[in-house]
Amino acid sequence: MTITQQTTAVALVTGANRGLGLATARLLGESGATVLLGARNAAKAEIAAAELRDEGLECWPLSLDVESAASIAEAAERVERDFGRLDILVNNAGILPEATTPGALQPLDIELFRRTFETNVFGAAAVSQAFLPLLRASEAGRIVNVSSRMGSLADQLDPTSPYASMVVPAYQTSKAALNGLTVALAKSLGDTPVRVNSVCPGWVQTDLGGPDNRAAAPTTAHDAARTVVEMAFIPADGPTGTFVDLDGPVPW
Ligand SMILES: NC(=O)c1ccc[n+]([C@@H]2O[C@H](COP(=O)([O-])OP(=O)(O)OC[C@H]3O[C@@H](n4cnc5c(N)ncnc54)[C@H](OP(=O)(O)O)[C@@H]3O)[C@@H](O)[C@H]2O)c1
Repeated sequence: MTITQQTTAVALVTGANRGLGLATARLLGESGATVLLGARNAAKAEIAAAELRDEGLECWPLSLDVESAASIAEAAERVERDFGRLDILVNNAGILPEATTPGALQPLDIELFRRTFETNVFGAAAVSQAFLPLLRASEAGRIVNVSSRMGSLADQLDPTSPYASMVVPAYQTSKAALNGLTVALAKSLGDTPVRVNSVCPGWVQTDLGGPDNRAAAPTTAHDAARTVVEMAFIPADGPTGTFVDLDGPVPW
């Protein structure tokens, strides 16, 4: 399915109250999906969902802090009770505190490492686990992990790559670990219709990485969301356990 086609899927996007998550939720909604906008702040989830509902989209707020086991369990129960299904999970919630923490690298800030992994890795793993029963029950379950080329070890080791000079270890290793989760889930779900892939959305005009990012980044959240949504709508014989960006496969 391409994103110009209409779908009746039920989709959940984590961290959907702003940035790429909100743009992804909008695009999924424009494709006809019923979209659950996950946000750790319930009021922000409600505001974001109301914004998309005002645009005529079928969107609902979902209180979901990916760092809280209780919040995740409650959200999964609510989705099962109120919607009875989930077809698409976009693990989008992510943080990059290193970019706004002076001196985080000298020495390595282990607390910041833990915080980054808590959201970017354990959050995605815990949310995936909680929603797997519904995704397995779907005819076309899809998990899209919003990763980054910053997590590509191949890029980091390639002196000709524009990513080679970037050093944000907690973020980079968290996205490499998220990619590992993609591969592991894809393999363990290999005998099911569920497809699991990592996507790099490009360098996107959002607040991630601090106040200067929006002006410096070349890609709008709307354009970046297309890459994410394309992987959410891959067909039954589409790829699983891959890492892609706008231009195609990304080296691990
Ligand atoms: N921007 C880029 O250039 C770029 C490039 C590659 C990959 N990415 C990835 O894209 C994803 C979205 O980033 P973005 O650029 O849209 O950043 P953003 O504007 O900073 O948005 C991050 C989102 O994650 C949410 N979040 C953080 N911790 C959470 C938690 N514990 N529970 C639930 N939600 C949580 C935030 O919620 P609050 O509003 O409550 O903080 C916010 O909605 C991230 O995974 C990021 O790594 C971004």
